[in-house]
Amino acid sequence: MNTKKKDIIGLDFWSAFGKKLVQYLEMKSGLRVLDVGTGGGACLIPAAKIIGSSGHAIGIDRWENCITETLENLKSNLLYNAKAEIMDARELTFDDNSFDYVTCGFIGFSDVFDFQNHKYRKENDKMNHILRVLKTDGKAGFSTWQSQGELDYLRKLLQDYLGKYTSKTKEEISKVPTSYSKETTKGFEKILQDVGFKNINVFSEDFIIRYVNLDEWFNVMKRSGWILREYLGSDEKRYADFKEKMLPHNLETFKQKDGSYHFVKAVIFAFGTK
Ligand SMILES: C[S@@+](CC[C@H](N)C(=O)[O-])C[C@H]1O[C@@H](n2cnc3c(N)ncnc32)[C@H](O)[C@@H]1O
Repeated sequence: MNTKKKDIIGLDFWSAFGKKLVQYLEMKSGLRVLDVGTGGGACLIPAAKIIGSSGHAIGIDRWENCITETLENLKSNLLYNAKAEIMDARELTFDDNSFDYVTCGFIGFSDVFDFQNHKYRKENDKMNHILRVLKTDGKAGFSTWQSQGELDYLRKLLQDYLGKYTSKTKEEISKVPTSYSKETTKGFEKILQDVGFKNINVFSEDFIIRYVNLDEWFNVMKRSGWILREYLGSDEKRYADFKEKMLPHNLETFKQKDGSYHFVKAVIFAFGTK
């Protein structure tokens, strides 16, 4: 059981988790950092702040819009010791032994490893490259999802709705997917070990995500809980029907005295040294 006091964070959880990963790595100034799958720079920005002007950080992502966003974020934070470029994590083009630290937030490893059945689907190119570009004694830090309370609950609500108000069969309803990839501490230990990392440390930590009200919760679910779109389509009337029939009575247990709603996300943090 996780008995640590939980941080309460709002919707900017990516940057909160990025900062946390960088803090756990205890980076020193003047060092070289690679951020794999930088997104908008959630790990890159706190890393660039810590390593200072004598250090250098590079963020890579396979999507151009992420690189554009990261470059804008670096500029608005006045960080000139970092850059971002398009690159695929499966084919890093950096030389061997180039970085003191690698951060890798939420890029997902379930394409290479089946975390539910604890076995490989294919060669773990991403992990091989990360180890390759780290210097000897360099440290890598990863974060990933163990669970996301609100998305798990959304799936349950959707299944209840489909069962009560549509003609979907039990079998079809049981196949409603979880809308994100769940990974495990045990699986992460294995994939770090197998590639040759030392001093492996993997743990999970719970965070409370605060939604200011029910509308905020539902709007986020419409965006990130793509299963709603998949099963209800894009007709606003069906969303309104789902909302009327399923909310708010089913969410009472998550409601706080101030009218906000709290859900727990469990994040896996994993670390290893070359
Ligand atoms: C969920 S986002 C997380 C972004 C950021 N690291 C964070 O912690 O907020 C995952 C990012 O990883 C990137 N990504 C996933 N697979 C990748 C790959 N093979 N090569 C490069 N980027 C990848 C995606 O494009 C996306 O921007």
